Amino acid sequence: MAAAAPSTRGDAESARKEELPGELNYIQYQHSLEAQYLPAIRALISKDLSEPYSIYVYRYFLYQWGHLCYMALNPTDSSLIGVVVCKLEMHSSHSAPTLRGYIAMLAVSAAYRGHGVATALVKMAIDAMAKRNADEIVLETEETNIPAMRLYERLGFLRSKKLHRYYLNGNSAYRLVLLLKSPDSDGATDLGLDEDDSALR
Ligand SMILES: CC(C)(COP(=O)(O)OP(=O)(O)OC[C@H]1O[C@@H](n2cnc3c(N)ncnc32)[C@H](O)[C@@H]1OP(=O)(O)O)[C@@H](O)C(=O)NCCC(=O)NCCS
Repeated sequence: MAAAAPSTRGDAESARKEELPGELNYIQYQHSLEAQYLPAIRALISKDLSEPYSIYVYRYFLYQWGHLCYMALNPTDSSLIGVVVCKLEMHSSHSAPTLRGYIAMLAVSAAYRGHGVATALVKMAIDAMAKRNADEIVLETEETNIPAMRLYERLGFLRSKKLHRYYLNGNSAYRLVLLLKSPDSDGATDLGLDEDDSALR
């Protein structure tokens, strides 16, 4: 996951907080929704990133793993309030390959933060990857991104590694990991994760 932009993070913190407009609709992304939602997904995610992704990065994830992308929609007008984007693939740098989930992007509209929307989205993504037999789920987050660190640690993610000066802005990150299965005796799941599959920086 890329670093949050310092300027927009400040804006987000000072953004007007709103009550949720009723019960949100949580839906899985489908390719038929691309025209309707891809621009909004890009806008929501890039608003808070210091290193915006190109359209190809979004398509890389959504074409292959759209079923691991969940959106929270406003029930009144179906506008996008939050989104999580993931992937799931074999990771073979360990002695035994693991099926590794990766949370690539997560964002909630600034006005609707603090209502559990991201928690609900991440739980849906974890459940979807667990159902597909994932061994573990990893992600990187900026060490100064306290809301994200709290959210993931509350959901059981552990800090596996500090990645010094990981982002282009010079900030460091933590690699977080959620183990979905017990590490086996021959070390299939290794908390000393390497850095080779950081799809995004
Ligand atoms: C990080 C981010 C996704 C969190 O989104 P959010 O919807 O505010 O997250 P949640 O509401 O689920 O959790 C935030 C807090 O609200 C609390 N909360 C309030 N009402 C809640 C409810 N009804 N249900 C669950 N949690 C609730 C949570 O307990 C949590 O408290 P904590 O800070 O003690 O952990 C959001 O701040 C964001 O989009 N930031 C910019 C992009 C970003 O940094 N993404 C992550 C990159 S790694």
